[in-house]
Amino acid sequence: MIELKSGLLVSKIRNGTVIDHIPAGRALAVLKILGIKGIEGYRIALVMNAESSKMGRKDILKIEDREIEEKEAELITLIAPEATINIIKDYEVVGKRKQEIPQEVVGLLRCTNPSCITNNDVEAITRFRTLKRRPLQLACEYCETRLTEDEVVRQILG
Ligand code: CTP
Repeated sequence: MIELKSGLLVSKIRNGTVIDHIPAGRALAVLKILGIKGIEGYRIALVMNAESSKMGRKDILKIEDREIEEKEAELITLIAPEATINIIKDYEVVGKRKQEIPQEVVGLLRCTNPSCITNNDVEAITRFRTLKRRPLQLACEYCETRLTEDEVVRQILG
């Protein structure tokens, strides 16, 4: 068991992924990115609004027997730029990944401009380039419409 600063007890996991340093309140959005609804049978521990010395408050997500793909990690960094993805094997942390927000985000988000080509051509694939990382600002490559972090969270939760 691991005792958090708050006194809350959370089990260590044997195999799987621990996503740590998620901004407080965003763990459900991370689960949504992973497509996890709870009915899949993964054993999951979710801690929200835990005390953190670095972040004030943070969320933590532990998922047994599930790995994180590259595309998923990319989307996670957009809403949780400080997130650490820990790979656990036989109770040990065997990998620790802190990812930077990519230069370009392809095919994951939609443009908010209804007349953008990507909303009018079924074959068009959305493409945003990163203008600023903190706070997040993305620009559509086709029409220059800007997306903020709030909009990205809205799209993921929507
Ligand atoms: N963890 C877990 N089960 C394990 C091993 C680790 O749930 N078998 C969790 C820890 O509780 C922690 C995260 O995985 O939330 C990372 O573990 P570790 O690297 O040991 O912790 P820290 O050194 O505190 O991580 P960091 O430096 O990234 O803050």
